[in-house]
Amino acid sequence: MKSIAIIYGSSTGNTKYAAELIAKKLAGYSPVLKDIADIVSEELQEPGVLILGASTWSIGELQDDWETFFPQIKKLNLTGKTVALFGAGDAEGYPDTFADALGILYDEFAKTGCTFVGEVSTEGYTFDDSQALRNGNFVGLPLDEDNESDQTDSRIEAWVNSLKQYLD
Ligand SMILES: Cc1cc2nc3c(=O)[nH]c(=O)nc-3n(C[C@H](O)[C@H](O)[C@H](O)COP(=O)(O)O)c2cc1C
Repeated sequence: MKSIAIIYGSSTGNTKYAAELIAKKLAGYSPVLKDIADIVSEELQEPGVLILGASTWSIGELQDDWETFFPQIKKLNLTGKTVALFGAGDAEGYPDTFADALGILYDEFAKTGCTFVGEVSTEGYTFDDSQALRNGNFVGLPLDEDNESDQTDSRIEAWVNSLKQYLD
């Protein structure tokens, strides 16, 4: 079984809530759960699997604590490590920049040599554009606590189950 860290940046608690739910569903893997605000970059080098959560703010920008950490990302060497991305957004309020933070993290973590897993189909989401799209799919799991909180649990459940093949 691989070591797993779930690391989130969250300004009003929505991505934190999702991170806690993911941790609960992966309890059998004993994941470490941490706020990116409390992380030193070496800690990202240790686990075999990083499940990274970031909400989108300021119209298509990264959540503040991730923004602060951002310059350190490209210095990491995550060759051989697995990365999965998730994060809260608001598809009704910000339909042109829905969950952009996932795409911003994707591009920067791509420089570390990691392997991404956990892409998600856009089916069931209503939005106009997102930086989180690659080849028509989201690079990770977008959640919308502002408008579709009733879907958060089932979206996380399906996503976590799809990740399990990469965790053993
Ligand atoms: C000023 C402001 C700007 C926002 N910009 C975006 C955006 O560009 N795209 C998006 O998907 N959500 C946007 N949101 C919505 C937040 O991402 C959403 O409320 C999310 O659940 C916050 O998660 P957090 O509590 O984990 O930080 C914005 C919200 C506010 C108040």
